[in-house]
Amino acid sequence: MSEIAHVRGWEAFDSRGTPTVGCTVTLRDGSAGRAVAPSGASTGRYEAHELRDEDANRFEGRGVSRAVRNVGTELADAVRGMDAREWRAVDARLAAADGTESMERLGANAVLAVSLASCIAGAASERTPLHVHLGEGRGDLEIPLPMVNVVSGGAHASGAIDLQDVLVVPLAAGTFAEAIAWAWQVRRGTRLEAEERGMPTALVADEGGLGLPLARNEDAFEIVVSGAHRAGLEPGVDVALAVDVAANQLQDGDAYRLAVEGRALDSDELGAQVAAWCEAYPIVSVEDALSDDDWSGWTSLADRLPAHVQLLGDDLFVTNAERIRRGYESKAANAVLLKPNQAGTLARTEQALLTARDSGYRTVLSARSGDTEDPWLADLGVGWRTGQIKVGSTMRSERTAKWNRLLEIEAEVEAGGGTSRLATPFRDGTAP
Ligand code: PGA
Ligand code: ZN
Repeated sequence: MSEIAHVRGWEAFDSRGTPTVGCTVTLRDGSAGRAVAPSGASTGRYEAHELRDEDANRFEGRGVSRAVRNVGTELADAVRGMDAREWRAVDARLAAADGTESMERLGANAVLAVSLASCIAGAASERTPLHVHLGEGRGDLEIPLPMVNVVSGGAHASGAIDLQDVLVVPLAAGTFAEAIAWAWQVRRGTRLEAEERGMPTALVADEGGLGLPLARNEDAFEIVVSGAHRAGLEPGVDVALAVDVAANQLQDGDAYRLAVEGRALDSDELGAQVAAWCEAYPIVSVEDALSDDDWSGWTSLADRLPAHVQLLGDDLFVTNAERIRRGYESKAANAVLLKPNQAGTLARTEQALLTARDSGYRTVLSARSGDTEDPWLADLGVGWRTGQIKVGSTMRSERTAKWNRLLEIEAEVEAGGGTSRLATPFRDGTAP
Protein backbone atom coordinates (compact mmCIF):
# COMPACT_ATOMS: atom_id res chain seq x y z
CA MET A 1 0.00 0.00 0.00
CA SER A 2 3.03 2.26 0.10
CA GLU A 3 2.95 2.73 -3.68
CA ILE A 4 3.29 6.31 -4.82
CA ALA A 5 -0.10 7.62 -5.95
CA HIS A 6 0.34 11.37 -6.43
CA VAL A 7 3.31 13.69 -6.84
CA ARG A 8 2.55 17.38 -6.72
CA GLY A 9 4.95 20.29 -7.03
CA TRP A 10 4.49 23.92 -6.13
CA GLU A 11 6.54 27.08 -6.16
CA ALA A 12 7.67 27.82 -2.58
CA PHE A 13 10.11 30.31 -1.00
CA ASP A 14 13.42 29.70 0.72
CA SER A 15 14.64 31.63 3.78
CA ARG A 16 16.10 34.40 1.60
CA GLY A 17 12.73 34.86 -0.08
CA THR A 18 13.91 33.28 -3.33
CA PRO A 19 11.57 30.85 -5.10
CA THR A 20 12.31 27.17 -4.70
CA VAL A 21 10.61 23.85 -5.40
CA GLY A 22 8.13 22.30 -2.94
CA CYS A 23 6.76 18.79 -3.37
CA THR A 24 4.12 16.60 -1.74
CA VAL A 25 4.03 12.87 -2.38
CA THR A 26 0.95 10.89 -1.39
CA LEU A 27 0.88 7.08 -1.20
CA ARG A 28 -1.97 4.65 -1.86
CA ASP A 29 -2.34 4.08 1.90
CA GLY A 30 -2.85 7.82 2.44
CA SER A 31 0.61 8.49 3.94
CA ALA A 32 2.23 11.65 2.70
CA GLY A 33 5.64 13.32 2.61
CA ARG A 34 6.47 16.93 1.95
CA ALA A 35 9.77 18.68 1.29
CA VAL A 36 11.05 22.02 0.03
CA ALA A 37 14.45 22.17 -1.71
CA PRO A 38 17.17 24.39 -0.18
CA SER A 39 19.37 26.68 -2.28
CA GLY A 40 22.88 28.10 -1.90
CA ALA A 41 24.40 31.54 -2.55
CA SER A 42 28.09 30.66 -2.59
CA THR A 43 27.65 27.74 -4.95
CA GLY A 44 30.35 25.49 -6.37
CA ARG A 45 30.93 25.40 -10.12
CA TYR A 46 30.29 21.64 -10.22
CA GLU A 47 27.05 21.38 -8.25
CA ALA A 48 24.00 19.66 -9.72
CA HIS A 49 21.99 22.16 -11.74
CA GLU A 50 19.34 24.34 -10.15
CA LEU A 51 16.73 24.97 -12.86
CA ARG A 52 15.35 28.53 -12.89
CA ASP A 53 12.94 30.13 -15.35
CA GLU A 54 15.27 32.98 -16.40
CA ASP A 55 12.11 34.97 -17.08
CA ALA A 56 12.99 38.54 -16.04
CA ASN A 57 9.30 39.37 -15.52
CA ARG A 58 8.93 36.96 -12.58
CA PHE A 59 11.07 37.02 -9.41
CA GLU A 60 14.00 38.63 -11.26
CA GLY A 61 14.35 35.52 -13.42
CA ARG A 62 14.65 33.25 -10.36
CA GLY A 63 11.19 31.66 -10.55
CA VAL A 64 11.07 27.86 -10.69
CA SER A 65 7.79 27.24 -12.54
CA ARG A 66 9.53 25.05 -15.13
CA ALA A 67 11.08 22.87 -12.40
CA VAL A 68 7.68 22.66 -10.67
CA ARG A 69 6.09 21.54 -13.94
CA ASN A 70 8.75 18.82 -14.26
CA VAL A 71 7.78 17.52 -10.79
CA GLY A 72 4.15 17.04 -11.79
CA THR A 73 4.85 15.59 -15.24
CA GLU A 74 8.02 13.63 -16.07
CA LEU A 75 9.20 13.00 -12.50
CA ALA A 76 5.73 12.01 -11.30
CA ASP A 77 5.34 9.64 -14.25
CA ALA A 78 8.73 8.08 -13.48
CA VAL A 79 7.92 7.08 -9.90
CA ARG A 80 4.14 6.62 -9.78
CA GLY A 81 3.34 3.07 -8.59
CA MET A 82 6.78 2.53 -7.02
CA ASP A 83 7.09 1.52 -3.36
CA ALA A 84 8.13 4.73 -1.57
CA ARG A 85 9.91 2.73 1.13
CA GLU A 86 12.44 1.65 -1.50
CA TRP A 87 13.98 5.12 -1.61
CA ARG A 88 17.19 4.15 -3.38
CA ALA A 89 15.18 2.59 -6.23
CA VAL A 90 12.96 5.66 -6.42
CA ASP A 91 16.06 7.87 -6.61
CA ALA A 92 17.59 5.72 -9.35
CA ARG A 93 14.39 6.13 -11.37
CA LEU A 94 14.40 9.90 -10.81
CA ALA A 95 18.03 10.23 -11.92
CA ALA A 96 17.30 8.10 -15.00
CA ALA A 97 14.27 10.25 -15.86
CA ASP A 98 16.50 13.31 -15.99
CA GLY A 99 19.23 11.41 -17.79
CA THR A 100 22.01 14.00 -17.42
CA GLU A 101 24.89 13.82 -14.94
CA SER A 102 24.21 17.31 -13.55
CA MET A 103 20.39 16.98 -13.68
CA GLU A 104 20.24 20.02 -15.93
CA ARG A 105 17.31 18.78 -17.98
CA LEU A 106 14.62 18.55 -15.27
CA GLY A 107 16.52 20.46 -12.55
CA ALA A 108 18.22 19.11 -9.42
CA ASN A 109 15.87 21.31 -7.36
CA ALA A 110 12.88 19.45 -8.85
CA VAL A 111 14.51 16.01 -8.52
CA LEU A 112 15.63 16.56 -4.91
CA ALA A 113 12.19 17.75 -3.79
CA VAL A 114 10.62 14.53 -5.15
CA SER A 115 13.43 12.35 -3.76
CA LEU A 116 12.97 13.79 -0.26
CA ALA A 117 9.18 13.93 -0.24
CA SER A 118 8.86 10.30 -1.36
CA CYS A 119 11.40 9.04 1.20
CA ILE A 120 9.57 10.97 3.93
CA ALA A 121 6.28 9.46 2.73
CA GLY A 122 7.87 5.98 2.86
CA ALA A 123 8.90 6.56 6.49
CA ALA A 124 5.39 7.81 7.30
CA SER A 125 3.91 4.70 5.73
CA GLU A 126 6.08 2.51 7.98
CA ARG A 127 5.18 4.74 10.93
CA THR A 128 8.82 5.12 11.76
CA PRO A 129 10.89 8.29 12.23
CA LEU A 130 12.89 9.30 9.15
CA HIS A 131 16.24 8.76 10.90
CA VAL A 132 15.28 5.17 11.74
CA HIS A 133 13.98 4.58 8.21
CA LEU A 134 17.26 5.81 6.72
CA GLY A 135 19.52 4.16 9.26
CA GLU A 136 17.70 0.84 9.22
CA GLY A 137 17.74 0.74 13.00
CA ARG A 138 21.43 0.11 13.66
CA GLY A 139 22.17 0.07 17.42
CA ASP A 140 22.40 3.15 19.62
CA LEU A 141 21.76 6.55 18.13
CA GLU A 142 24.66 8.85 17.39
CA ILE A 143 23.80 12.55 17.22
CA PRO A 144 26.14 14.61 15.02
CA LEU A 145 28.32 17.26 16.68
CA PRO A 146 27.03 20.70 15.63
CA MET A 147 29.28 23.30 14.03
CA VAL A 148 27.49 26.59 14.74
CA ASN A 149 27.85 29.89 12.91
CA VAL A 150 28.72 32.90 15.09
CA VAL A 151 30.21 35.50 12.73
CA SER A 152 29.19 35.69 9.06
CA GLY A 153 30.76 37.38 6.06
CA GLY A 154 31.28 36.94 2.34
CA ALA A 155 28.22 36.22 0.22
CA HIS A 156 26.05 35.80 3.35
CA ALA A 157 26.63 39.24 4.94
CA SER A 158 27.35 42.01 2.47
CA GLY A 159 29.87 44.57 3.65
CA ALA A 160 31.25 42.42 6.47
CA ILE A 161 34.46 40.36 6.50
CA ASP A 162 35.63 38.17 3.61
CA LEU A 163 35.50 34.88 5.52
CA GLN A 164 32.03 33.41 5.03
CA ASP A 165 31.57 31.62 8.37
CA VAL A 166 33.40 31.67 11.67
CA LEU A 167 31.83 28.89 13.71
CA VAL A 168 32.03 27.39 17.16
CA VAL A 169 32.50 23.65 17.67
CA PRO A 170 31.40 22.59 21.19
CA LEU A 171 33.71 19.60 21.12
CA ALA A 172 33.74 18.71 24.82
CA ALA A 173 29.96 18.79 25.32
CA GLY A 174 28.41 15.60 26.64
CA THR A 175 25.04 15.77 24.91
CA PHE A 176 23.55 17.52 21.91
CA ALA A 177 21.46 19.73 24.20
CA GLU A 178 24.61 20.82 26.02
CA ALA A 179 26.47 21.36 22.75
CA ILE A 180 23.83 23.68 21.35
CA ALA A 181 23.52 25.52 24.68
CA TRP A 182 27.28 26.15 24.67
CA ALA A 183 27.10 27.44 21.10
CA TRP A 184 24.25 29.74 22.16
CA GLN A 185 26.38 31.06 25.03
CA VAL A 186 29.35 31.70 22.76
CA ARG A 187 27.17 33.57 20.27
CA ARG A 188 25.74 35.64 23.11
CA GLY A 189 29.21 36.33 24.55
CA THR A 190 30.42 37.39 21.11
CA ARG A 191 27.42 39.68 20.64
CA LEU A 192 28.00 41.36 24.01
CA GLU A 193 31.69 41.77 23.17
CA ALA A 194 30.83 43.34 19.80
CA GLU A 195 28.31 45.71 21.43
CA GLU A 196 30.91 46.82 23.95
CA ARG A 197 33.23 47.59 21.04
CA GLY A 198 30.53 49.78 19.48
CA MET A 199 29.45 47.44 16.68
CA PRO A 200 25.84 46.94 15.57
CA THR A 201 24.56 43.42 16.29
CA ALA A 202 20.81 43.48 15.75
CA LEU A 203 20.89 42.69 12.04
CA VAL A 204 21.82 39.12 11.27
CA ALA A 205 23.20 37.47 8.14
CA ASP A 206 21.59 34.77 5.96
CA GLU A 207 22.40 31.99 8.43
CA GLY A 208 21.72 33.98 11.58
CA GLY A 209 25.36 34.92 12.28
CA LEU A 210 26.59 38.36 13.30
CA GLY A 211 27.73 40.46 10.31
CA LEU A 212 30.36 42.54 12.09
CA PRO A 213 32.27 45.46 10.51
CA LEU A 214 35.72 44.14 11.50
CA ALA A 215 38.93 45.58 10.06
CA ARG A 216 40.73 42.28 9.60
CA ASN A 217 39.40 38.80 8.94
CA GLU A 218 41.24 37.31 11.89
CA ASP A 219 39.48 39.75 14.22
CA ALA A 220 36.51 37.39 13.83
CA PHE A 221 38.51 34.56 15.45
CA GLU A 222 39.67 36.88 18.20
CA ILE A 223 36.18 38.12 19.04
CA VAL A 224 34.67 34.61 19.12
CA VAL A 225 37.49 33.51 21.44
CA SER A 226 36.63 36.50 23.67
CA GLY A 227 32.96 35.53 23.42
CA ALA A 228 33.80 32.00 24.61
CA HIS A 229 35.77 33.35 27.59
CA ARG A 230 32.85 35.61 28.43
CA ALA A 231 30.60 32.54 28.38
CA GLY A 232 32.90 30.79 30.85
CA LEU A 233 34.03 28.23 28.25
CA GLU A 234 37.68 27.45 27.60
CA PRO A 235 38.64 27.96 23.92
CA GLY A 236 40.63 24.99 22.67
CA VAL A 237 39.32 22.80 25.50
CA ASP A 238 35.53 23.09 25.79
CA VAL A 239 34.92 24.72 22.44
CA ALA A 240 37.00 25.26 19.32
CA LEU A 241 36.65 27.34 16.16
CA ALA A 242 35.91 26.39 12.57
CA VAL A 243 36.04 28.54 9.46
CA ASP A 244 34.48 28.41 6.00
CA VAL A 245 36.60 30.63 3.76
CA ALA A 246 34.32 29.95 0.73
CA ALA A 247 37.34 30.88 -1.38
CA ASN A 248 35.47 30.66 -4.71
CA GLN A 249 33.89 33.97 -3.71
CA LEU A 250 37.30 35.61 -3.19
CA GLN A 251 38.59 34.83 -6.66
CA ASP A 252 39.58 37.83 -8.70
CA GLY A 253 41.40 36.77 -11.86
CA ASP A 254 44.31 34.61 -10.71
CA ALA A 255 44.27 36.02 -7.19
CA TYR A 256 42.23 35.67 -4.02
CA ARG A 257 41.14 39.09 -2.77
CA LEU A 258 40.66 39.84 0.94
CA ALA A 259 38.67 43.03 0.35
CA VAL A 260 38.41 44.26 3.97
CA GLU A 261 42.18 44.12 4.28
CA GLY A 262 42.93 45.45 0.79
CA ARG A 263 45.13 42.43 0.05
CA ALA A 264 45.35 40.10 -2.96
CA LEU A 265 47.00 36.73 -2.37
CA ASP A 266 47.99 33.87 -4.64
CA SER A 267 47.09 30.28 -3.75
CA ASP A 268 50.30 29.66 -1.84
CA GLU A 269 50.02 32.89 0.13
CA LEU A 270 46.39 32.25 1.08
CA GLY A 271 47.32 28.71 2.15
CA ALA A 272 50.12 30.13 4.31
CA GLN A 273 47.73 32.70 5.80
CA VAL A 274 45.16 30.03 6.68
CA ALA A 275 47.86 27.84 8.24
CA ALA A 276 49.05 30.83 10.30
CA TRP A 277 45.49 31.43 11.56
CA CYS A 278 45.35 27.76 12.60
CA GLU A 279 48.53 28.24 14.65
CA ALA A 280 47.30 31.45 16.28
CA TYR A 281 43.71 30.45 17.15
CA PRO A 282 42.06 27.22 18.35
CA ILE A 283 40.76 26.27 14.89
CA VAL A 284 39.92 22.60 14.33
CA SER A 285 38.25 22.77 10.90
CA VAL A 286 38.96 24.72 7.72
CA GLU A 287 36.48 24.60 4.83
CA ASP A 288 37.03 25.70 1.21
CA ALA A 289 40.27 27.55 1.95
CA LEU A 290 40.97 27.55 -1.81
CA SER A 291 38.85 27.44 -4.95
CA ASP A 292 37.21 24.35 -6.43
CA ASP A 293 39.68 24.19 -9.33
CA ASP A 294 42.85 24.67 -7.28
CA TRP A 295 43.60 20.96 -6.72
CA SER A 296 47.36 21.42 -6.35
CA GLY A 297 46.83 24.27 -3.86
CA TRP A 298 44.60 21.99 -1.76
CA THR A 299 47.25 19.26 -1.75
CA SER A 300 49.93 21.69 -0.56
CA LEU A 301 47.61 23.11 2.08
CA ALA A 302 46.74 19.64 3.40
CA ASP A 303 50.44 19.07 3.82
CA ARG A 304 51.03 22.37 5.57
CA LEU A 305 48.14 22.47 8.08
CA PRO A 306 48.74 21.29 11.66
CA ALA A 307 47.91 17.59 12.01
CA HIS A 308 44.86 18.16 14.24
CA VAL A 309 43.07 20.39 11.70
CA GLN A 310 40.22 19.00 9.60
CA LEU A 311 40.45 20.20 5.99
CA LEU A 312 36.92 20.17 4.65
CA GLY A 313 35.87 20.30 0.99
CA ASP A 314 32.49 21.82 0.15
CA ASP A 315 32.61 23.46 -3.30
CA LEU A 316 35.68 21.28 -3.98
CA PHE A 317 33.70 18.04 -3.69
CA VAL A 318 30.09 19.20 -4.29
CA THR A 319 28.80 15.97 -2.68
CA ASN A 320 30.07 14.05 -5.70
CA ALA A 321 31.61 10.60 -5.28
CA GLU A 322 33.94 11.00 -8.26
CA ARG A 323 35.37 14.30 -7.01
CA ILE A 324 35.80 12.82 -3.51
CA ARG A 325 37.77 9.93 -5.05
CA ARG A 326 39.96 12.40 -6.91
CA GLY A 327 40.51 14.32 -3.66
CA TYR A 328 41.53 11.16 -1.87
CA GLU A 329 43.98 10.20 -4.62
CA SER A 330 45.58 13.64 -4.63
CA LYS A 331 45.54 13.97 -0.79
CA ALA A 332 43.63 17.21 -1.17
CA ALA A 333 41.59 17.19 2.09
CA ASN A 334 40.49 14.89 4.90
CA ALA A 335 36.78 15.68 5.25
CA VAL A 336 33.73 16.14 3.03
CA LEU A 337 30.80 18.53 3.40
CA LEU A 338 27.54 16.89 2.29
CA LYS A 339 24.71 18.98 0.83
CA PRO A 340 21.86 16.94 -0.69
CA ASN A 341 20.99 19.60 -3.27
CA GLN A 342 24.55 19.54 -4.65
CA ALA A 343 23.95 15.88 -5.49
CA GLY A 344 20.27 15.98 -6.54
CA THR A 345 18.96 12.88 -4.74
CA LEU A 346 19.24 11.30 -1.30
CA ALA A 347 20.80 8.19 -2.86
CA ARG A 348 23.55 10.21 -4.54
CA THR A 349 24.18 12.02 -1.25
CA GLU A 350 24.49 8.65 0.49
CA GLN A 351 26.89 7.53 -2.26
CA ALA A 352 29.10 10.55 -1.53
CA LEU A 353 28.93 9.77 2.19
CA LEU A 354 29.99 6.15 1.65
CA THR A 355 32.81 7.17 -0.68
CA ALA A 356 34.06 9.64 1.93
CA ARG A 357 33.87 6.98 4.63
CA ASP A 358 35.71 4.42 2.47
CA SER A 359 38.45 7.01 2.00
CA GLY A 360 38.79 7.49 5.76
CA TYR A 361 37.40 11.01 5.44
CA ARG A 362 35.17 12.60 8.06
CA THR A 363 31.79 13.93 6.95
CA VAL A 364 29.84 17.09 7.83
CA LEU A 365 26.20 17.30 6.77
CA SER A 366 25.18 20.84 5.82
CA ALA A 367 22.15 23.05 5.22
CA ARG A 368 22.27 25.83 2.58
CA SER A 369 22.32 29.57 3.14
CA GLY A 370 18.90 29.68 1.49
CA ASP A 371 17.18 26.96 3.50
CA THR A 372 13.64 26.11 4.55
CA GLU A 373 11.57 25.33 7.62
CA ASP A 374 12.01 21.59 6.92
CA PRO A 375 13.65 19.45 9.64
CA TRP A 376 14.69 16.40 7.52
CA LEU A 377 18.39 17.32 7.49
CA ALA A 378 18.57 16.49 11.21
CA ASP A 379 17.21 12.99 10.56
CA LEU A 380 19.76 12.45 7.80
CA GLY A 381 22.56 13.37 10.21
CA VAL A 382 21.38 10.85 12.82
CA GLY A 383 20.28 8.06 10.45
CA TRP A 384 23.49 8.24 8.40
CA ARG A 385 25.79 8.93 11.39
CA THR A 386 27.48 11.80 9.61
CA GLY A 387 29.44 12.72 12.76
CA GLN A 388 29.06 16.49 12.30
CA ILE A 389 26.32 18.86 11.15
CA LYS A 390 26.43 22.51 10.07
CA VAL A 391 23.15 24.37 9.88
CA GLY A 392 23.91 28.04 10.64
CA SER A 393 23.45 29.93 13.89
CA THR A 394 21.17 29.46 16.90
CA MET A 395 18.44 31.72 15.52
CA ARG A 396 16.19 32.04 12.43
CA SER A 397 13.57 29.35 12.16
CA GLU A 398 15.06 27.62 9.11
CA ARG A 399 18.15 27.01 11.30
CA THR A 400 16.39 26.18 14.59
CA ALA A 401 14.07 23.75 12.76
CA LYS A 402 17.09 21.44 12.41
CA TRP A 403 18.49 22.02 15.93
CA ASN A 404 15.00 21.56 17.38
CA ARG A 405 14.58 18.25 15.58
CA LEU A 406 17.94 17.02 16.94
CA LEU A 407 16.89 18.13 20.44
CA GLU A 408 13.62 16.25 19.97
CA ILE A 409 15.37 13.07 18.79
CA GLU A 410 17.75 13.15 21.77
CA ALA A 411 14.92 13.76 24.24
CA GLU A 412 12.73 11.04 22.71
CA VAL A 413 15.43 8.42 22.89
CA GLU A 414 16.00 9.17 26.57
CA ALA A 415 12.28 9.17 27.33
CA GLY A 416 11.97 5.82 25.57
CA GLY A 417 14.70 4.28 27.73
CA GLY A 418 17.13 4.04 24.81
CA THR A 419 20.60 5.53 24.62
CA SER A 420 22.12 8.09 22.32
CA ARG A 421 25.52 9.70 22.29
CA LEU A 422 26.94 12.85 20.82
CA ALA A 423 29.56 12.16 18.15
CA THR A 424 33.10 13.08 19.22
CA PRO A 425 35.07 13.48 15.98
CA PHE A 426 37.64 15.76 17.64
CA ARG A 427 38.03 13.90 20.90
CA ASP A 428 41.37 12.29 20.07
CA GLY A 429 42.86 15.59 18.90
CA THR A 430 43.91 14.50 15.43
CA ALA A 431 42.43 14.77 11.96
CA PRO A 432 41.93 11.51 10.01
P1 PGA B 1 25.83 28.27 0.62
O1 PGA B 1 26.67 28.40 1.95
O2 PGA B 1 24.62 27.51 0.90
O3 PGA B 1 25.59 29.72 0.23
O4 PGA B 1 26.73 27.58 -0.38
C1 PGA B 1 26.94 27.32 2.81
C2 PGA B 1 28.38 26.90 2.73
O5 PGA B 1 29.16 27.44 1.91
O6 PGA B 1 28.80 26.01 3.46
ZN1 ZN C 1 30.95 26.11 2.46
